Amino acid sequence: MNKICLLGLGYIGLPTGSMFALAGKNVVGVDPNPRVQAALRSGLASIDEPELQTLVTAAINSGRLRVQTKPEAADAFIIAVPTPLDPTTNRADLTFVERAARDIVPFLRRGNLVVLESTVPPGTTRDVLAPILAESGLVPGQDIFVAHCPERVLPGRILVELEQNDRLTGGLTPACAERAADLYQTFVKGAIMRTDATTAEMVKVMENTFRDVNVALANEFALIAERIGVDVWDAIRLANHHPRVNVLRPGPGVGGHCIAVDPWFLVGSAPGATRLIQAAREVNDAMPEHVVARLATLVAPPAAVTLLGVTYKAEVDDVRESPALRVAELAVDHGYDVRLCDPHVKADAPGLPAPLLPLEQALRDAEAVVLLVDHRAFQELDVDLVAALVSGKRVLDARNSLDRASWQARGFEVAVLGSGAGGANTRRKTERARA
Ligand SMILES: NC(=O)c1ccc[n+]([C@@H]2O[C@H](COP(=O)([O-])OP(=O)(O)OC[C@H]3O[C@@H](n4cnc5c(N)ncnc54)[C@H](O)[C@@H]3O)[C@@H](O)[C@H]2O)c1
Repeated sequence: MNKICLLGLGYIGLPTGSMFALAGKNVVGVDPNPRVQAALRSGLASIDEPELQTLVTAAINSGRLRVQTKPEAADAFIIAVPTPLDPTTNRADLTFVERAARDIVPFLRRGNLVVLESTVPPGTTRDVLAPILAESGLVPGQDIFVAHCPERVLPGRILVELEQNDRLTGGLTPACAERAADLYQTFVKGAIMRTDATTAEMVKVMENTFRDVNVALANEFALIAERIGVDVWDAIRLANHHPRVNVLRPGPGVGGHCIAVDPWFLVGSAPGATRLIQAAREVNDAMPEHVVARLATLVAPPAAVTLLGVTYKAEVDDVRESPALRVAELAVDHGYDVRLCDPHVKADAPGLPAPLLPLEQALRDAEAVVLLVDHRAFQELDVDLVAALVSGKRVLDARNSLDRASWQARGFEVAVLGSGAGGANTRRKTERARA
């Protein structure tokens, strides 16, 4: 398997293709997106990920990573296209996977390997991908090898984790799983575990569902703490001294292309058996509204408010399903004069409900500041500078990552998500704001 045709050069496909190229494979990267094409043709990585630019430059310079808009014949095909949620049904939208599969059908030859890396509902490789590949006249599992190899990397650490994480190869048959393992061991240093395709699909969505449900539990603890006048951060710290307890961190919600999406794939597979998973999604999806309700206890619309961070988590440029963006949308809907600030995001990022401004401009004359994403740049803010720029000294920390004492020392009223310090008073104000 010397030549790989990889469809989808996004957060997953671009680093994966570059790794294969640097490990000696000839990689044809396919992506119809003009923005991705333009960036890569001029040698630039189309996404912001530590060390990725170096890797992409090395892969392109090696002559073993070519980029084009259409697939061509190869020994192995890898599909790493988006699998978003259909917002009307909350079911997986498999259009991109289906289209990518159809795109490679004309190029399939006996003995080829087709790997689906996109995260999909259990059963997709067998019931959706394989029938499309069979349109080639070749029998999946017999004439061609077909496998699901889910990706478990953490954005911000993609390159390290691509190499070091354990991988799953889930085949239509054991021979398919083996063939996929042969390919990935080119650069993967972690263990490669073989299983069947549907189990591999289930494992991937289980992992993200596990995270989502546990974050929901932490968020629910935060809501309870605010009501009863407890500081949830202190309570979690103490609870985590228990040797078998590890409560996660509450926050303004869950986002990104994976954790906020994948649990719905399980719900779609077995709606009647997923009460807990659906409840967790509801708890997490309601957090942005809660943040805006907390903001209302500090200042009423149409106050000018600075929202720090729009990405779905720290140190990434990704705004997909970002709860911070949802907070911004809700704040605009409530009539606040919203200014956004995020050093990782470009001003033309899709879906911004208010202008993205440089820090000083965003803070000037603001009546409240809300920390939504714990980018290092925000944790290291010069509090004296903030105090000099704003017109109201109020801050809501939805991540518990600011140094409360230093903000209070400069005269700020500091509210922290999950902190009910202030007890009944805070509670009454929150309830009044909600009413
Ligand atoms: N981003 C992550 O951290 C992560 C982690 C694990 C799994 N995944 C899964 O990997 C898959 C890809 O995610 P991503 O974050 O890389 O998405 P992405 O949107 O960053 O990249 C996908 C790329 O596929 C391209 N594309 C769409 N249709 C195509 C086609 N027919 N042929 C070729 N290219 C096509 C798009 O233009 C886009 O550039 C998803 O299923 C996602 O759930 C993502």
